Amino acid sequence: MRRFVVVGHNVNADGDFTLNDLCGGAGRLDVLLRCVTSAFFLSHGLRREVEVILHFPGQGGFQGLQPDGPKTVRLAGRELRYLNPDERSTGALVRTALLRKLPGPGERPSTPGIYVSRKSFDELVSSLPGPVQLAEDGEGWPPAGLPADTTFYLSDHHDFTPAEEESLRRANARRICLGPTSLHSHHCITVAHWLLDGGPSTGRPG
Ligand SMILES: C[S@@+](CC[C@H](N)C(=O)[O-])C[C@H]1O[C@@H](n2cnc3c(N)ncnc32)[C@H](O)[C@@H]1O
Repeated sequence: MRRFVVVGHNVNADGDFTLNDLCGGAGRLDVLLRCVTSAFFLSHGLRREVEVILHFPGQGGFQGLQPDGPKTVRLAGRELRYLNPDERSTGALVRTALLRKLPGPGERPSTPGIYVSRKSFDELVSSLPGPVQLAEDGEGWPPAGLPADTTFYLSDHHDFTPAEEESLRRANARRICLGPTSLHSHHCITVAHWLLDGGPSTGRPG
């Protein structure tokens, strides 16, 4: 299972935003939605052995206030339905999940294949296997490859906060760099898929 965890630092975790302003008032949710599309969509189909976990520390995360977070939305490729390649409809699915009432700490289903919880970033990092932080100052892609069960961590247009970096450090996450230039988060996912699929050494079978 390939997992991609993406943190949306400025998104209102209560889902209190309009789909008409995904890159403004929604706190750059557009960045995370492109990650969802890059993680799942093939030319004609979906990658089913993929999970995307969108983590929302809460609107005030940067100030240390967390009025509406943390929330975690998990999209499970094996069960996903109603996912389309456009940002607005994916934004609607994520917003529906964020609007779901969460009476307790457990994960609750939203729409098919999408789940929501109040998991913190630290809980995520300590529970998911094979942590790899995609980092511009990390080591190169390992020549021996990575295990099939790897969890990649990416940030949005901001760097990870010191507390997030500390969670990843405690989990002994590997820091891996995808090249000398700073890429968009969703491009990193495309590159990671390509490398995991076999990179330059693979052609079309047959
Ligand atoms: C747009 S970048 C981060 C923002 C950037 N530091 C800034 O604010 O100017 C988004 C994420 O993509 C990943 N990323 C970007 N370029 C990368 C690279 N060359 N290698 C590995 N990860 C990269 C990192 O996980 C980063 O958190």
